[in-house]
Amino acid sequence: MSLAVVNGHLIEPSQGISEALDILIEDGKVAKIGKKLKGDKTIDASGHIVCPGLVDIHVHFREPGFESKETIASGSRAAAHGGFTSVVTMANTRPVIDNAGMVEFVNRRARETACIKVWPAACATKGMEGVEMTEMAELKAVGAVAVTDDGRDIQSSWVMRRVLEYAGMCGLVYMAHCEDATLMDGGAMNEGYNATRLGIPGCPKTMEEIMIDRNIRLAALTGAKIHIQHVTSAEGVDIIRRAKAKGVRVTCETAPHYWTLTDDAVEGFGTNAKMNPPLREAVDVAAIKAGIVDGTIDCIATDHAPHTPTEKEVEFQYAPFGILGLETSLALTITGLVETGIISIEKAIALMTSAPAGILGLEAGTLREGGPADITVFNPKAEWTVDPTAFYSLSRNTPFTGMKLRGVVKATICDGKVVYSA
Ligand code: DOR
Ligand code: ZN
Repeated sequence: MSLAVVNGHLIEPSQGISEALDILIEDGKVAKIGKKLKGDKTIDASGHIVCPGLVDIHVHFREPGFESKETIASGSRAAAHGGFTSVVTMANTRPVIDNAGMVEFVNRRARETACIKVWPAACATKGMEGVEMTEMAELKAVGAVAVTDDGRDIQSSWVMRRVLEYAGMCGLVYMAHCEDATLMDGGAMNEGYNATRLGIPGCPKTMEEIMIDRNIRLAALTGAKIHIQHVTSAEGVDIIRRAKAKGVRVTCETAPHYWTLTDDAVEGFGTNAKMNPPLREAVDVAAIKAGIVDGTIDCIATDHAPHTPTEKEVEFQYAPFGILGLETSLALTITGLVETGIISIEKAIALMTSAPAGILGLEAGTLREGGPADITVFNPKAEWTVDPTAFYSLSRNTPFTGMKLRGVVKATICDGKVVYSA
């Protein structure tokens, strides 16, 4: 049974394709890319963009341990709804993913319950405690695609040096959540005018920037590949820009909330605007956009971090950090970066497909004959209003409720199977 996606505009960044082309899918693979293709079944993509299935290299599905927030099944459905066919899951579950058995557990649950591709990242240190290294070679052998203690940074520079040496030896990228815990010091939002006015303990941008700088320097020292997660501040972007100019093997991501919102949002949206690192200020938003334009920022990730309403409905200080991302990322990218003329739609697609996949070397984010038929079809002009009750995620913690956005997914296809259709 073949499936043809016809009459759409194909954007395939890795080959520089942006033109009217059809795709024929057979046996889960791309059989042909060309004109006037016919299949047993057809998806009419007139007026739509067709692109490689979106890739998000930073998501938190909460299985095992916190299944009321999200499971691998529910997270994968939220991903498909958002146009994603590949996600890299972080390791801060309970228990954490710090041994081969746990990586195998995630892979098995993904095989049994996920409708898209779930690529597990594993911890860099045992128990994610920043003290003793994990068996990275074993983790890689059973399918871990990166190592990370995301949710925390490794505080000891000595341990971080060893982690980077070992990760580099194993050919694994280290994904760095950059945070000096002593400067974080109980902070719940960005330190500054708004924190003072609202009476919420703040944490300075410096807590992030010091560790971006330290982690990059240690990567340079060891020759390891490092990927800086969720960059939020102007100075953070600048440190990475300078390191790249010197030839350090560093890549980085930002997330849609960091160019869409400032810490002004905390007043209106409360704990649904609480995440770590926190929303910053207007100068930082401008610098994030500039970093995307000049290529300092390599890709877009979401840091999809589900928490239940009960957990979020507490005083700001006591609420967990994190917001949902998978079901709003594409539309926030189109609305905030493409519709405003900051980047082209082709660049936006690259930032969400070939670029993130390339950072970790995933077989994803491209479309070529003989390759996996992971495809997203969306209307970049269609408008919708964010309503979290319509999300596939088990959680509802988004600061974007009520926001009017452009960009609606019509179909998500993973290995030739329609896993979401509007
Ligand atoms: O906002 C966040 N949420 N930042 C993190 O570092 C962890 C994440 C989570 O796991 O909820
Ligand atoms: Zn994270």
